Amino acid sequence: MYFRGKALFWLPLCLLIVLFGCESNHPDSAPAGVARGEYDRDEGSPDSSDESIAPQRPIVLGFSQLGTESDWRNANSLSVKEAAKEAGIELLFENAEQSQEKQFEAIRGFIDKKVDLIAVAPVVQSGWDDILKEAQLAGIPVIIVDRAVDILDASQYVTLIGSDFYEEGRKAGKYLLDKMANSPGPVGIVELKGTAGSTPSIDRGRGFHDTIGEQSKFRVLKSEYVDFTHERGREVMRSLLQELGEEIQVLYSHNDDMALGAIEAIEEYGLRPGKDMIIISVDGTRKALEKMVQGKINCVVECNPLLGPNLMQAVNELMEGRTLPKRIVTPETVFTEVTAEREVHNRKY
Ligand code: AHR
Repeated sequence: MYFRGKALFWLPLCLLIVLFGCESNHPDSAPAGVARGEYDRDEGSPDSSDESIAPQRPIVLGFSQLGTESDWRNANSLSVKEAAKEAGIELLFENAEQSQEKQFEAIRGFIDKKVDLIAVAPVVQSGWDDILKEAQLAGIPVIIVDRAVDILDASQYVTLIGSDFYEEGRKAGKYLLDKMANSPGPVGIVELKGTAGSTPSIDRGRGFHDTIGEQSKFRVLKSEYVDFTHERGREVMRSLLQELGEEIQVLYSHNDDMALGAIEAIEEYGLRPGKDMIIISVDGTRKALEKMVQGKINCVVECNPLLGPNLMQAVNELMEGRTLPKRIVTPETVFTEVTAEREVHNRKY
């Protein structure tokens, strides 16, 4: 009687443990809305009759990269590819060559292939609502990398991993305030902006203007969109020098590639970059640090492109069902002539 009573108590409990225990320990367990078993591939197919011997398939991540405009971008792509390999994550990589339309196509392709997750480095901030809705309806989580998206419903992406571009602009502005502390002014500045509508361009501009705006001696003579490329940096700086000549005392460039192009134009014009004109840039590529060591760039605000390991960690955590913070900011520094000399040899990009 006692034994029967005990059995009646334990039997349902054991059944519960078996049912729920099996589910949470399943190797293919995925967060809510992630249809991991549906990805159309041979190995590890969920149709496999004996799950205990079926190989566990890797997580599949679709990544839409915005382009190849700069050394920063190429380092970023390499970092994502290497980190995926290291983490055993299968990466479907698409380069959109600066076209938002191509990013939409890539995302639709990832949805068709039923990938586990999608990551996007968005070329511009606006226009993402509809495509992110499509991914959400397909139950595929989206991680935003590097640049932000300006959307109405923030639940359409899981997290944004990347730099604080506004803070980068503020750091550039603070450097200039210190550097020109003893100058009565006026101080003539030209600004080479990146891609129109992109987060780094918008926020680096705002951060810089908000900071130098505290003092009326600073005058931004011209502000031009230059698409983050070396070639356009040279071209635009040439024409700015033709127009404004030695009125330009400071160049603020939103990235290193444009600054390096502009330096060529400044030297062609017969001025000494870093001496006759203060050069402030953003990124911290090896080529820019080399120029700093030569005294041709005065300040570089770091923007870290090595986001691959952070991205893969986020992917793994998400697939394990964990919750991520809405914003993951990468720590960054400011290089001056002294620190550049120490860092230049360690720079991989
Ligand atoms: O979004 C990051 C920016 O994009 C980098 O500063 C720039 O070099 C790149 O092209």
